[in-house]
Amino acid sequence: MELDLREIQGNVLAGFNTNMQVLIGLSVDAGRASDAAAWLAGLAPSVTSMADIREERGIMKAQLTGGTGERVWLGIGIGSDFLAQIREDLFFFDAGFTLGFRKRARPVLGDRTDQNAWRVGSPDNPLDVLLIFGSNNEGAADGRADELLAQAAAAGLRNSYRETARRIDDLEHFGFRDGVSQPLVRGIDTGGVIDAGNFVFGYARKAGENPYLPGGDPKGYLRNGSFLVFRRLAQDVGAFRDFCHRKAKALAQHFPGLTAAHLEALIVGRWPKGALTLIGVTTDPGQRPNDNAFDFPSDPLWAECPLGAHIRKVNPRSGPKDVVDVPRILRRGIPFGPPFDSDPPAERGLAFISYQTSIQEQLEFLTSAWMNSPAAPAGSAGHDLLVGRNNGPRSMPIAFPSGTVELSDDGQQWITPTGGGYLFAPGKTTLGRLTEPVAAGVGWRASKLLSKASIFVNSTLGIGGLKP
Ligand code: HEM
Repeated sequence: MELDLREIQGNVLAGFNTNMQVLIGLSVDAGRASDAAAWLAGLAPSVTSMADIREERGIMKAQLTGGTGERVWLGIGIGSDFLAQIREDLFFFDAGFTLGFRKRARPVLGDRTDQNAWRVGSPDNPLDVLLIFGSNNEGAADGRADELLAQAAAAGLRNSYRETARRIDDLEHFGFRDGVSQPLVRGIDTGGVIDAGNFVFGYARKAGENPYLPGGDPKGYLRNGSFLVFRRLAQDVGAFRDFCHRKAKALAQHFPGLTAAHLEALIVGRWPKGALTLIGVTTDPGQRPNDNAFDFPSDPLWAECPLGAHIRKVNPRSGPKDVVDVPRILRRGIPFGPPFDSDPPAERGLAFISYQTSIQEQLEFLTSAWMNSPAAPAGSAGHDLLVGRNNGPRSMPIAFPSGTVELSDDGQQWITPTGGGYLFAPGKTTLGRLTEPVAAGVGWRASKLLSKASIFVNSTLGIGGLKP
């Protein structure tokens, strides 16, 4: 089925990839849900579609080289609790989305931080709506955000979060090139091999399958939508660097000449400029066009890239793993806060954003079953020391030529989750139809009850998530 590019939000399949983004969180005032829904529905024509991005990419890029124009792209996500209030007849067979981010953060994502202290999506400031303004012109993005915030306030939506996130030469704050590996989507990217239904509702997840629509949806709202996961992850760059310095010295007996930079690369699985770690390469070989053209069967004994390295944990490719197909996500994150060297004490991190059609089977699976687990995707992988979480020390084995060494984090963490949300990023027509009367009928009510019951049973038994 052909993709409806005028309907699908642009940040989903194309990615804004602008130099900066303003992220705005809105919380709906008590008793104002239908006013808020009406305002959101009215925004539908302003939302940037995939087709808009294709048409306007040149104009947006020209802004970087002195081109005129104040182009600002807009993306929207609607939080699960708010959506359940306004569209009683739309529900999802997805425990992650249905139970919501706050309920899943601790038992599934392993996030033990105090939710009352979260910067975004705390119990007092629920993330009912996320607006993403992408631009290469910061003044224009701020102006557009201010304009919509004034309208939102009149519609009963309180501004509970605002952040300006900026790209730093495509690096995340630890200094590694990000966005090197993304799933190539069939029908969108040259050489695309992954079907769009993994990221957009209403399309097949595998060739020959039926369109994927994971919900009770009597009015047909799901098509062209996606799930948006937002996690605000603070990064302690000083702690990560100090750790690697200390450990590199300590491990030098096993690997003479081991540097902190090499150890950092082994924890990520790539060198800062994007190249995969390889035996015999002890300094960054620099960026190359084929930095993503590798697979792990060529490294069965993980002598090159540790099994617990971040990139191998979240995408073991066709190397050893405990499932047939690797769940994929489209990552649209962008750093927030200043670079470490310009202002060490400031807060910084990654505004992690991903799009997928199953929160439970994609983002949550990658996080709880692989990133946070020492024994997966392949036995003895160890923890993902970069991002993974554990209620206790984490460690990962590294195969040095002289033998395998267990690298322990000594109970330290360099990522602190500071909130976020699970949201629905609807297609443009669906957004415009948000305020239609709720569908009548017993059919959808019965299936909603069944889906709630099965989600309750699954989460009580710990299926689809770790126990707290
Ligand atoms: C602050 C937190 C994080 C940092 C610093 C970080 C850093 C990185 C870096 C440097 C890469 C390699 C560049 C690339 O392949 O694009 C990468 C890849 C990746 N990360 Fe993260 N990441 C973070 C959080 C997460 C989270 C929460 C997930 C969720 C599962 C995730 C999933 C992935 C995936 C799927 C890849 C691509 C792997 C591949 O296909 O080879 N990351 N990350």
